[in-house]
Amino acid sequence: MHPTPILFDAYGTLFDVHSVASLAEQIAPGRGEALSQLWRAKQIEYTHLRTLSGRYKPFDAITRDALDYASERLIPGLGTTERDRLMNAYASLSAFPEVRRTLQALHEAGHVLGILSNGTPQMLDIAIKSAGLTGLFTHVLSIDAVQAYKTSPAAYRIGTDALGHPAREILFISSNGWDAAGAGWFGYTTFWINRAGLPREHLDRDPDGEGTSLAAVIDYLAHAECMR
Ligand code: LAC
Repeated sequence: MHPTPILFDAYGTLFDVHSVASLAEQIAPGRGEALSQLWRAKQIEYTHLRTLSGRYKPFDAITRDALDYASERLIPGLGTTERDRLMNAYASLSAFPEVRRTLQALHEAGHVLGILSNGTPQMLDIAIKSAGLTGLFTHVLSIDAVQAYKTSPAAYRIGTDALGHPAREILFISSNGWDAAGAGWFGYTTFWINRAGLPREHLDRDPDGEGTSLAAVIDYLAHAECMR
């Protein structure tokens, strides 16, 4: 029996994008959480809009645009120095607490692990190093290679091309419900990390598995492999 190859989304799945909220809270007391939420929502919205209209811009630049919008809306007058500090914090996000040991266990069990992310190669490189996840991934794949963000099929195809397996034989893991749906549309077997207990997206493609943390993937795989 061959271990299932696994692709992970990065931001929000491995790296806690809201770990910047505490710095935002120091900078603007009472508004840190709202800033972090709007920043993330705008960042994703801009990736979708730019891909729909063929206006690619790299993820670090989009992340800055989204921060500029969110801060102008919620914290008018927030200076460039503070915005630069928030961008620096975004470059070295914390991993969620269970991530390292779960990846280590999957790696030791022989699964080929990869990241397929909107982040630029340079962003991913720095994030992996600063979260202490070096050496665990065989593939670190960025949609920058096709200049189309998820949920474009071109973005998901990078994963099947690199791993050399049909999509259904690869487990795609994301904490973003829309990303799990997009990967499912493409044909991947999908697992949704639903940390916040959110309802499922209504996109006509439910995830094949669901759990409240990355650790739940271990049980899912044990079950899936004995069913084969
Ligand atoms: C990523 C975004 C979707 O890492 O979080 O691709």
